[in-house]
Amino acid sequence: MSARLEGKTAVVTGAGGALGSAVSTHFATEGVRSLVLADVNLDAVTVVAEKLRAAGIEVATEQLDVTDGDAFDALIRDAAERFGTVDTLVNTAGIVSPNARIHNLSTADWERSMTVNLTGTFHGIRAVARALRKTSPVSIVNIASVSGLTAWAYAAPYCASKAGVIHLTRVAALEYAEEGIRVNAVCPGTFPTALHDTLPAEALKSIESRHPLGLGAPADITGAVTFLASDESRWVTGHALAVDGGYSLP
Ligand SMILES: NC(=O)c1ccc[n+]([C@@H]2O[C@H](COP(=O)([O-])OP(=O)(O)OC[C@H]3O[C@@H](n4cnc5c(N)ncnc54)[C@H](O)[C@@H]3O)[C@@H](O)[C@H]2O)c1
Repeated sequence: MSARLEGKTAVVTGAGGALGSAVSTHFATEGVRSLVLADVNLDAVTVVAEKLRAAGIEVATEQLDVTDGDAFDALIRDAAERFGTVDTLVNTAGIVSPNARIHNLSTADWERSMTVNLTGTFHGIRAVARALRKTSPVSIVNIASVSGLTAWAYAAPYCASKAGVIHLTRVAALEYAEEGIRVNAVCPGTFPTALHDTLPAEALKSIESRHPLGLGAPADITGAVTFLASDESRWVTGHALAVDGGYSLP
């Protein structure tokens, strides 16, 4: 099988995290030429970058807080200038909300999830649209969640922000199809990572019981992200692809 991202340049946010680093590493095995690894936590991406450079990939690391729209604009502009274009943006940066019912949440709890997960994704789409529409084809892959497709108690800000990411994906797909930008979302089920550190063990057990194929791992998600990033999905846009071990089955 030929490499699906041969010669392409990709920007990955949240690249220091479990899924972001797995996506970046998988992209390297799929022939990506250059990668921009961005995360609010620069130390985390530095470790990933060293491994990928050792494998011969051209890697830039950037400290990026996705809630800063101007910084996102600058990052995409700079990446396009340095590498000629950006072929794909994977919006992976995300946070969970406190495990609490709505009446116990503060406005700050609500706003934090919305700002990082939803506004951060908006900033990424907008940065690509501003810099690259009508120039060369771009595929944007937004990491939403199955919690944006199904309702979870005790996670209102997270669920609402991820549902927002899915609908934003559809709107952006419509707005930019004619200008060469495809926008899709991946909706993972649960794969235990640092995001679950504060979740009670019994809650994780209960989540596991609702995944017919069991809990996942980052490597279970990377193939879907690669498909949507690559030209294999060239006629797919505005789609929310559940990769969830069967969680969202009725
Ligand atoms: N782990 C799961 O079960 C699961 C399921 C569905 C969806 N997701 C989504 O997958 C994505 C990755 O999750 P993960 O499990 O790898 O988590 P993770 O905590 O390992 O990675 C998240 C990364 O995002 C970065 N980040 C956080 N806020 C940021 C900001 N403001 N700007 C830039 N970077 C920021 C963190 O530093 C971290 O490196 C998230 O969007 C998450 O919502 C995860």
